[in-house]
Amino acid sequence: MGVIWNEEKKTFTLHTKNTTYQMQADQYGYLLHLYYGKRTGGCMDYLLTYTDRGFSGNPYEAGNDRTYSLDSLPQEFPSQGTGDYRSTVFAVKNADGSCACDLRYEGYEILKGKYALPGLPAVYAGGEEAQTLKIYLKDSVTGVGVCLLYGLLPELDIITRSAVVTNNGNGKVYLEKVQSANLDFVTGNYDLITFYGRHAMERNFQRMPVNHGGQVIESRRGVSSHQYNPMMILAERSACEDYGSCYAMSFVYSGSFKGEAEKDQYNQTRVMLGLNDDGFSYPLEPGKIFYAPEVILTYSADGLGALSRNLHSCIRTHVCRGKYRDMVRPVLLNSWEASYFNFNGESIYALAEHAAQSGIELLVMDDGWFGKRNDDSSGLGDWGVNEEKLGGTLKNLISRINGLGLKFGIWFEPEAVSEDSELFRKHPDWALAIPGRSPVRSRNQLVLDFSRKEVVDEVFSQMCRLLDEENIEYVKWDMNRSLSDVYSVATRDQGRVLYDYVLGLYDFLERLLDRYPDLLIEGCSGGGGRFDAGMLYYTPQIWCSDNTDAIDRLRIQYGTSFGYPVSAMGSHVSVVPNHQTGRETPMNTRKVVAMSGTFGYELDLGKFTAEEKQEVKRQVEEYHKYAPLIQNGCYYRLSDPFVDETGAWAFVAQDRSEALLNVVMLEIHGNMTPVYVRLKGLEEGAFYREEKSGRLYPAEALMATGYPMPLELGAYQAYQYHFVRVSD
Ligand code: GLA
Repeated sequence: MGVIWNEEKKTFTLHTKNTTYQMQADQYGYLLHLYYGKRTGGCMDYLLTYTDRGFSGNPYEAGNDRTYSLDSLPQEFPSQGTGDYRSTVFAVKNADGSCACDLRYEGYEILKGKYALPGLPAVYAGGEEAQTLKIYLKDSVTGVGVCLLYGLLPELDIITRSAVVTNNGNGKVYLEKVQSANLDFVTGNYDLITFYGRHAMERNFQRMPVNHGGQVIESRRGVSSHQYNPMMILAERSACEDYGSCYAMSFVYSGSFKGEAEKDQYNQTRVMLGLNDDGFSYPLEPGKIFYAPEVILTYSADGLGALSRNLHSCIRTHVCRGKYRDMVRPVLLNSWEASYFNFNGESIYALAEHAAQSGIELLVMDDGWFGKRNDDSSGLGDWGVNEEKLGGTLKNLISRINGLGLKFGIWFEPEAVSEDSELFRKHPDWALAIPGRSPVRSRNQLVLDFSRKEVVDEVFSQMCRLLDEENIEYVKWDMNRSLSDVYSVATRDQGRVLYDYVLGLYDFLERLLDRYPDLLIEGCSGGGGRFDAGMLYYTPQIWCSDNTDAIDRLRIQYGTSFGYPVSAMGSHVSVVPNHQTGRETPMNTRKVVAMSGTFGYELDLGKFTAEEKQEVKRQVEEYHKYAPLIQNGCYYRLSDPFVDETGAWAFVAQDRSEALLNVVMLEIHGNMTPVYVRLKGLEEGAFYREEKSGRLYPAEALMATGYPMPLELGAYQAYQYHFVRVSD
């Protein structure tokens, strides 16, 4: 395992436990991609084919050899202006106004441990767990250098990629496109799987063939977005949940991005992922360095399920950090759907009292506690406590809530500003806006220019004033709009602002974690509008969606599960009729769905009957029983809730000693046909005891024929079965 350099062949071979990645610096110094897939040995340069290709030009040094063209060869880091007419990952505008960069191999370094990226989130690993390969490329005319970074986590079948651009020339250049990873495939028919959506309906699964002509998913919104998630999968056409070759690319970044897939004229497939070039034009002065955010790659020969589990392990244990990484998160009660903006200190305390009686561990006071804010038209930017509204100090409220045995958490939206706020009145030029033009409002608010340090510093110090003083153990970090009017009066520039904004955000979060290492931060952006591996480096959980309807939610969580672990998905039980859909679902169903995430409630427990409150108490106890298995077990999708009559999934312990089966019935008909749900991942040859019935079942039968669901009346019934392996 690890990185192998073959001097004679000039190949780099990267072996993980089950995969191999190979590239070659060829006779002209171009870095060609040879292979990525199932683990293998040997040199794969036999895969390259050469023939005279009309209208595919040849580099000058190739002389009269018309069979050598970058328009057809598979490459690691294709660059604009080299005779490759496909979409490229790199484009530079030089000081003389020309747009070309001809990157040739210069050298390499192999290092122990995993590289880090200054100011950016990245996969981390111990020195023994990982290796780094650096490949240096250079354009000899301008001196622009690119260092390609490869991080290997062999045990996890993870390879990460990033690129570091250095301007070694004499003139200022503009980076017009810098993406982080490109994969070229010389043959094969692939499908592209992406996750599209909208506010309150994020990460729907879409699978479409990669055809001639490019396919693009992207965000131009400054945040990774509800509309497309920055994670995509390339799957062989025949690959499915349990079989076949597939590749995942996940962007460790929370701003605008672009993912492209294209089948070229020779039926070769190119996929790439990285920063969006739309509106991007990053000035790089001589001597300066630019870091492209990281992309996580993984390959599975055994279908999408195994592919997702690779990503889950990587993100759960090598992206998420901090005290809460491996801990079962506290069960919380959030005030938002309980009372929206209409609360005071007493009503929050009353919520906490009910929560304490039900065994809930954390009370979160959502939007509305600060500045002047009783609706969404004012107050953002003024992070001082509205004591008049609370009817007392926050200190007093928190100490009373702590007295009930509950932790206290609070909502912030640090990146936003209301025009009706003290902050905006003092610093109107701190909001993103183009001088002389009226900015686009969204949810009645503007966005602070986080590309400016003084802006970040001011909000940071406002937040610290509170966190230093009060016993706040959880923060919900929200962001409720897309960026617009992208221009910074500080740099009088537009092309660098979106990237610098995200660096400002990361700097803020890093400083916060540094100062408050025990703080649990939950990310949020109108629900799941910034659900990405970048945010998960700072916030080990993210509110998955503003949609708490159990049936929509299980589909949203299904889509999310392709790229992200359950330990990252904030999920709550709310009331019926559901506030987003009006749908009625049984309380048990809402619990089953919310348990497959960081469990909590978002409702007014005070309106519950004594019996319902007892039910909540039982649910919380049950969650505690299963939480370690849910959070750290292997996740198996057992159905496709977009097409099947059930939503079904299971958690199986790493050592296969137990499994928790979860099923929600999506269809109900007269004279029901029986539904069997087939388990996965159990130990072959073993027997499992189902806890409620006490009955023993052979693993093979559970996996081959399945477990029959009760033929019970009622819409949207849900079931949970706990299977424990018996030792013979
Ligand atoms: C966003 C969040 C909600 C809630 C509101 C408060 O929409 O996703 O959970 O916090 O903001 O304004």
